[in-house]
Amino acid sequence: MAIERTFSILKPDVTARNLTGAVNARIEAAGLRIVAQRRVRMTRAQAETFYAVHKGRGFFEELVAMMSSAPVVVQVLEGEGAIAKYREVMGATDPAKAAPGTIRKDFARSVGENSVHGSDAPGTAAIEVAQFFAGNDIVG
Ligand code: CMP
Repeated sequence: MAIERTFSILKPDVTARNLTGAVNARIEAAGLRIVAQRRVRMTRAQAETFYAVHKGRGFFEELVAMMSSAPVVVQVLEGEGAIAKYREVMGATDPAKAAPGTIRKDFARSVGENSVHGSDAPGTAAIEVAQFFAGNDIVG
């Protein structure tokens, strides 16, 4: 399988509970390499742009408010089949449906405060990475 890059966010519920290292340990244990990482406080506009695909859905307002409410950690992860692998490590969007041993099963509080985001496809990964990182910021 080809080496891929995916975009990851450790959400406010992770930074608030000081779980950045614990989540990063899960990522690294899965064989994914953190090749770029930055702690940022997203503006509301940045969150709206990032989640534009969900605009109009019932949870959109709550989502952008939550994502801009406190620091997040944005990352680029690299590895074989990184997009699918990270989605497996994260678990289902709703932690109640996530498999045992996944990040969301073990750390997430709810479908809204679900600890992590990971890109769903190569096209979105490229767009999401480019929103937060320039080429020189990514050191593989
Ligand atoms: P994420 O992978 O970041 O992508 C969109 C986010 O919307 C999702 O994780 C959830 O945190 C959030 N969200 C909140 N409510 C819902 C919902 N009912 N269905 C799907 N996603 C939701």
